Amino acid sequence: EMLEKGGYDHFMMKEIYEQPRSIRDCLRGRIYPQQGKVQLGGIKEYTEKLKNVDRIIIVACGTSWHAGLVGEYLIEEYARVPVEVEYASEFRYRNPIITEKDLVIAISQSGETADTMAAIELAKEKGATIFGICNVVGASIPRLTHAGVYTHAGPEIGVASTKAFTAQVSVLTLIAFYIAQQRGKITQSKMVEYLTGLNEIPNLVQEALKLNEHIRQIAARFKDSTNCLFLGRGSSFPVALEGALKLKEISYIHAEGYPAAEMKHGPIALIDDEMPVVFIATKHSSYEKVISNIQEVKARKGHVIAIVSEGDTEVKGMADYVIEIPQTNEAFVPLVATIPLQLLAYHIAVMRGCNVDQPRNLAKSVTVE
Ligand code: G6P
Repeated sequence: EMLEKGGYDHFMMKEIYEQPRSIRDCLRGRIYPQQGKVQLGGIKEYTEKLKNVDRIIIVACGTSWHAGLVGEYLIEEYARVPVEVEYASEFRYRNPIITEKDLVIAISQSGETADTMAAIELAKEKGATIFGICNVVGASIPRLTHAGVYTHAGPEIGVASTKAFTAQVSVLTLIAFYIAQQRGKITQSKMVEYLTGLNEIPNLVQEALKLNEHIRQIAARFKDSTNCLFLGRGSSFPVALEGALKLKEISYIHAEGYPAAEMKHGPIALIDDEMPVVFIATKHSSYEKVISNIQEVKARKGHVIAIVSEGDTEVKGMADYVIEIPQTNEAFVPLVATIPLQLLAYHIAVMRGCNVDQPRNLAKSVTVE
């Protein structure tokens, strides 16, 4: 088993460290930065559909649902198509309004999740076109869908999803730019710029992994916490949700992700001198607003751990701990900002003596309702 773990103590750590490669594998043959071109063979036949579609509905569960929320931001921002993201388990039972004009994208690492499969069957009955974003080749969901894009992350053994999540986000990024390209929403020169940035992401993730020791020290400080809050805005909001999910899944610390601006409508009541609050505060839109949220937490004696853009000095003066991640275009922040959150959850769980690869009560794939 040690051999299978490639020298790491746990599959989760091995899979976290595989991400520069898994993201590279996901992008390979799909982006042509110099030409400013995205090619997605699996959905090529549906190019006309993508040019005309009025609405996209994303269905998924768990971490895959978080990837879907990132996809919503990306597709709406760059391709300008309205997107709704639904929990498959809710969607299937609420008589959703779907027509043959709709495009449904089902996201699933395993391709076997019962609720997601049922949501697909329902949308299919109503005549929608269904795409899949799956990791396991030939699983049930890729067989049920009309077309799809594999994530190519390789087998994921750790129950808490890591490399599958960043691969799903990578595919959604590709889909967003593919639709943008088909609908003429981005100029050729801008496409070159974006895809050149995207092509660099595996290297930036490699850089972010060098933060491991720094994050381990932060983990040691907060390992005995009973609660933890994760805050972000825009596409960093789903990243906050995913950071909270990782922590609660494997360390059993109660954690919640929230949009930073919603803090004042509830979570702020929880803040005292024992509460760690993790902010995603990179230098992009909403940066100044997130800074004022950080000040609000500090005024109530909360402990701030801030993920910031490399070279940031403003947040450094306010936060208790800063984690500097390499600078990138706002579109790709989720892919880089997720890495320190995975590492933080991992180290805290290990320090608490938890079984990180097989957390209690959880299954890698939920094939029953
Ligand atoms: C389970 C797993 C999660 C996963 C979710 C959805 O809860 O523990 O890691 O995100 O199922 O699984 P899927 O295979 O459909 O992505």
